[in-house]
Amino acid sequence: MNLPLKLTGLALAPASPQFINRYSEPSTGQAVSAAQELADCLVTPAASVSPKYFYDALGSKLFEAITGLDEYYPTRTEAGIFDVAHAQMALALADAGIRRPCLIDLGAGNCAKASRMIPHLQPKQYVPVDISVDFLREAAEQVQSAFPALNIVGVGMDFSTGLVLPPEVQQHDRVFFYPGSSLGNFSPAQAQAFLQRIADPAQGGASGLLLGIDLVKDKATLEAAYDDTLGVTAAFNKNLLRHVNRLLGSDFDERQWRHLALFNEAESRIEMHLQAQKNLTVRWPGGERVFRGGERIHTESSYKYTVASMSALLRRAGFTQINHWTDPKDWFAVFWASV
Ligand code: AVJ
Repeated sequence: MNLPLKLTGLALAPASPQFINRYSEPSTGQAVSAAQELADCLVTPAASVSPKYFYDALGSKLFEAITGLDEYYPTRTEAGIFDVAHAQMALALADAGIRRPCLIDLGAGNCAKASRMIPHLQPKQYVPVDISVDFLREAAEQVQSAFPALNIVGVGMDFSTGLVLPPEVQQHDRVFFYPGSSLGNFSPAQAQAFLQRIADPAQGGASGLLLGIDLVKDKATLEAAYDDTLGVTAAFNKNLLRHVNRLLGSDFDERQWRHLALFNEAESRIEMHLQAQKNLTVRWPGGERVFRGGERIHTESSYKYTVASMSALLRRAGFTQINHWTDPKDWFAVFWASV
């Protein structure tokens, strides 16, 4: 008798995405090894912290703010390319024999970029992957309300250390979506190895890849994008110290550090550093590091490519059919590469 009611209830219940967490802070093995990794990188003479540690909950919000800054051209330039070329991109997938892909969104963050492509690519399954687990969980729920019928499997994991996806992720017709030039955080050799893992049937198992990558341009434009006048990027960089304090138990004081962003032309990369403003000692359980005034912690490299250099890299990684689209100024490129 109450069956119709139950059915109504089911039909009205908002769908919620599946979520698989393979990464979370404190009390997991990954956090313990994070502390070790951080300590090791801080005590070497040329101290560094991996840019993946930018993305705690606040860091993810600060990055979202960066993408709206006038100086930070990549996000809007890439969005413009997707807007103009989405139909051609859908055709490129169809040409590769891919109809209803499983769309795997690497470093999905707020899922905004994929959400704009979902109506055009018509994925059968959407798999946002990110290291910022709680931020991703919320974003995946938003995507689910926008596309109630879409099968969504959110995955919290650090994909820089391995790309084997949970069994819930469809095996065939996998299209990796890697926009935003995040690949630029890897060195070219690491990027090639990572792209190889994406293409490897035993790992990522990709049929194809949609990749957004920032292109080499004049130094002033590049440096302004990483050192905005409002200081949002500086806050993003310094927030990493707070995240490190939580993971490592260290006593970094962000007021003692200065944000630096420099284009290294020989390496074709933007480098971000934190520079000690005076001599200081940072301590954590089981270790410490003395920094001289002026000494730096290298927090990010963001490599810039040319269309030719990225095409060559994709080929070396095992992709065959390669298309690309750029904006009118040739500031940014989106590549389609199939295996
Ligand atoms: C997310 C790695 C693409 O390198 O442009 C933005 C990160 N760092 N501003 C980039 C970032 C400072 C961003 N990626």
